[in-house]
Amino acid sequence: MAELPSDLHLVYHALQPYPADVPLEDVYAGLDLPTGDGTRPFVYVNMVQTFDGQTVLAGAAWTIGTDVDHHLFRQLRVHADAVLCGAGTLRTDDVIVTTHPPLQERRVRHGQPPNPLGIVVTATCHFPAETFNKKFFRRTDLERLIITTPRAAPADIDRVRAAGVAVELVPATPDGEVDLMAVIRYLAGKRVRRVLCEGGPRFNVAVARAGLIDELFVTTALRLGGDPTAPRLFTAPVTDHPLQLVSEYHYRAPQGVREIYFRFRYPR
Ligand SMILES: NC(=O)c1ccc[n+]([C@@H]2O[C@H](COP(=O)([O-])OP(=O)(O)OC[C@H]3O[C@@H](n4cnc5c(N)ncnc54)[C@H](OP(=O)(O)O)[C@@H]3O)[C@@H](O)[C@H]2O)c1
Repeated sequence: MAELPSDLHLVYHALQPYPADVPLEDVYAGLDLPTGDGTRPFVYVNMVQTFDGQTVLAGAAWTIGTDVDHHLFRQLRVHADAVLCGAGTLRTDDVIVTTHPPLQERRVRHGQPPNPLGIVVTATCHFPAETFNKKFFRRTDLERLIITTPRAAPADIDRVRAAGVAVELVPATPDGEVDLMAVIRYLAGKRVRRVLCEGGPRFNVAVARAGLIDELFVTTALRLGGDPTAPRLFTAPVTDHPLQLVSEYHYRAPQGVREIYFRFRYPR
């Protein structure tokens, strides 16, 4: 693993003094995110993209960012009670939503489990046999849940439960997709106060169109993917309004800026 920089450069912050060099371990550490509006949990999305907008590189997402991005996505998970992902990400990549061991200890001291609840959302609950070899099904150091709909075949639900992952049913929308408001109501009932969505791009569209995104975190790696068919952060229109920048950090290496980390308030 490459050595991590000691600081990131804070270029802009809506609420704090800038510019400033901020120790890496402090970046996104004290976010103090809201716990929802009383009716639903606070929802934040985190994604990584290449400079030309690809969110998939060589078939995966972790291949895009540097070790600093990997550090920050684990840091962002610390604030979440649950991490949601679309089933496409589990089918084509994997879903592992753990945090750093020192941060796990901090969560435990605050009465939370070491890692957030890892949730995959699917209307069908159908996964090819090879998906069951992925870490999502094999790791037991975090609680895992699949939320699906009555569209799912009972045999598919049984297969997931037999693999040791819990399954919860919520209603489907008239067009057969998972009713995300029902997912959020279910999570609120489980005392989930902060939900982190980690994609993928098609799931992001559904979450945005349901009006559920409060904040958007984006890492932009200063590298090129060059694949015009690779999905972007959102695969369909979601809003005409400009994003509202909350903060922007740069990872400065001796050769120049390597990566940029944006935090936005999602426009209403
Ligand atoms: N760059 C990043 O930060 C990042 C992050 C995550 C993933 N990724 C990449 O993204 C790729 C997968 O993305 P993707 O867009 O193909 O899949 P996705 O967004 O992960 O999942 C799409 C699936 O989510 C399920 N889903 C659940 N509720 C839905 C709803 N209300 N509306 C629509 N779909 C819903 C559907 O599965 P069912 O058909 O089973 O219902 C749908 O096919 C992977 O290659 C992964 O590496 C990148």
